[in-house]
Amino acid sequence: MATRSATQQGSKKIVGVLYKGGEHAAQNPDFVGCVENALSIRAWLESQGHHYVVTDDKDGPDCELEKHIGDAHVLITTPFQQPGAAPHGGDRLRPRRPAGGRRRGAHRRRGHGQQHRVGGGGPADAHPRPPAQLPAGGGEWDLAAVAHRAYDLQGKTVGTVGAGRIGRLLLQRLKLFGCTLLYHDRLRVDAALEEELGSAFEEELDAMLPKCDVVVLNMPLTDKTKGMFDKEKIGKMKRGVIIVNNARGAIMDTQAVAEACKSGHIAGYGGDVWYPQPAPKDHPWRYMPNNAMTPHISGSTIDAQLRYAAGVKDMLERYFKGQDFPEPNYIVKEGKLASQYQ
Ligand SMILES: NC(=O)c1ccc[n+]([C@@H]2O[C@H](COP(=O)([O-])OP(=O)(O)OC[C@H]3O[C@@H](n4cnc5c(N)ncnc54)[C@H](O)[C@@H]3O)[C@@H](O)[C@H]2O)c1
Repeated sequence: MATRSATQQGSKKIVGVLYKGGEHAAQNPDFVGCVENALSIRAWLESQGHHYVVTDDKDGPDCELEKHIGDAHVLITTPFQQPGAAPHGGDRLRPRRPAGGRRRGAHRRRGHGQQHRVGGGGPADAHPRPPAQLPAGGGEWDLAAVAHRAYDLQGKTVGTVGAGRIGRLLLQRLKLFGCTLLYHDRLRVDAALEEELGSAFEEELDAMLPKCDVVVLNMPLTDKTKGMFDKEKIGKMKRGVIIVNNARGAIMDTQAVAEACKSGHIAGYGGDVWYPQPAPKDHPWRYMPNNAMTPHISGSTIDAQLRYAAGVKDMLERYFKGQDFPEPNYIVKEGKLASQYQ
């Protein structure tokens, strides 16, 4: 959420960029993340005299967003349906004018007009799908197609790059699977937590990568991590590695991933983050073999929508009262990028 640091008194103009729910908008009142249901804060905002505009029309000089951005006090947006082309496709909301205010990305996705069955209809059809994509509904029962390359997670070495909120939750959960757990981060977690997570710190990323059967990316997209996983970095990983990218598509070199999937160096690449987003129809990751890609749907469950809608309301309440947000909510504060994005 980007805010103008003006006086908090009086009527404010709030602009939200969401995706259209279409026929689905009326099917569930808790489907609050769409334009039609507008985070369920319209009545609350309007009862206080604020002006609330929500649109999915965000591109081009004549779009709806352009008409409102000039005098908006607050812009609500997400990494999924971001106005303008973000420099890194995600984490940062690029200021559209020198608002001098605070800003933060909320969480949502673009859902319409996207191809949901990734790997279908393209060249990847010639290659085996990951088991979860086996179309049982299509009448197939080809166990060999799966069994010749299916492995247990138990006993495997899994390394996370980034052990912040998501990385730690991953480690907590994987502990139960009996994996050897490694993590690389700029910061080492304290010894007690390391013990609790059952995970060993790897100071050097390049030393961790060759040990891992599975590499999971859980660090932010920054100037330092953009394109970090190029041909050379991928080459340091084991042949047959599985990569799960929870973070951002632009952390990867797109072509290098596609080529390594094709050569078999990467045995499986999954995630829901792409660069750019929405991914163009000819994005190589849609068609590369051994992909388990979905559109950017994480954080789009109804429960998550209710959480982020409540988070937006909380931040608006604080803004109207002239209060600061909780520190982890800032991406940029007083012109300075939060440390985790540096
Ligand atoms: N797919 C999705 O829908 C989705 C949802 C939420 C978050 N994300 C992505 O996941 C990322 C991680 O989320 P989080 O909540 O755990 O963030 P976080 O800020 O809690 O943790 C990020 C961790 O990465 C570490 N880090 C930063 N730069 C690094 C580097 N160059 N090398 C190694 N480690 C580095 C930080 O020290 C921190 O511990 C987010 O930045 C976001 O891009 C994706």
